[in-house]
Amino acid sequence: MIKRIAVLTTGGDAPGMNAAIRSVVRYGINKKLEVMGVSRGWWGLINEELRLMDHRSVSGIINQGGTILKTERCTEFGTKEGQERAYQTIKKNAIDALVVIGGNGSFSAAHIFNKRYQVPCIGISASIDNDINGIDVTIGSDTAINTALSAIDNIRDTATSMERIFVVEVMGRDSGYIALTVALAGGCEDVIIPEIKFDLGVICHEIVEGNIRGKASWIIVVAEGAARAEEISRRITEITSLETRSVVLGHIQRGGRPTAFSREMALILGQAAVDCLLRGESDKAVGMHEGKIVTVDFEVAIIKKELKVEKLYNLIKILT
Ligand code: F6P
Repeated sequence: MIKRIAVLTTGGDAPGMNAAIRSVVRYGINKKLEVMGVSRGWWGLINEELRLMDHRSVSGIINQGGTILKTERCTEFGTKEGQERAYQTIKKNAIDALVVIGGNGSFSAAHIFNKRYQVPCIGISASIDNDINGIDVTIGSDTAINTALSAIDNIRDTATSMERIFVVEVMGRDSGYIALTVALAGGCEDVIIPEIKFDLGVICHEIVEGNIRGKASWIIVVAEGAARAEEISRRITEITSLETRSVVLGHIQRGGRPTAFSREMALILGQAAVDCLLRGESDKAVGMHEGKIVTVDFEVAIIKKELKVEKLYNLIKILT
């Protein structure tokens, strides 16, 4: 029987992680569980940095970005020794199960750990990249998109006023999700994503053609996994002789107050994760798919998500 669970956040932080922690802690307590909070993800298990949480430990965090538990990309957990130490912490503190809030790197680690030590683990899908297979929207991705969109709206003011070409780089290590969504919603002229081969010659031709027609300002969104904004900007100037500027939005997209949607999802999934553990489920992630809460085996969740990009990509081109 599960009496005590531990919750941790690992990998890159995502807005809404705090709301998920709040939900796991308060719902867990409501279900008569003891809930421990682990500091800095797997690192905290390896180094026995954890504390018992109560209602008050999660007060006033629902609207905060980041994670009060802190997070790390912990390479030590990839070693047998690191995992053994983490397991010793779990045994010593009588922890029966884990809730792991993070992305696919976090779930890969949880899957290995679960298989090796049979510690029940449930993941909550949180990543701005929205790249978890089998899950439509991750906690934090909506906030990141809105943050990037607001920056692009601001950039458009200068692009229009000074009739300039801007190349804006957004996050998304292997995925064009953020780039594609903000390019469409921001009315951007072009988008470069890892999923679709791009031809800079064609983009430059379109810019020059547009210029002849009197269209002098362009915003091209680039996913970091596809190209670097600075390089693209430099090459556009070389080819077209037009003035360009590059902007890298970077970690601005990872922080900030979670949107209502990111919070709502985090709170619902926190509850779902605790319920999964109480039902005896393990080795899977909870998330939303087609408007419903679903569980996806870690083994499936970590497979590269196939993003269906053509429809949105073509729409961006048509609407330019
Ligand atoms: O996975 C989320 C993410 O923000 C990616 O989009 C990005 O490539 C990466 O994390 C950056 O990681 P770090 O903060 O460790 O540099």
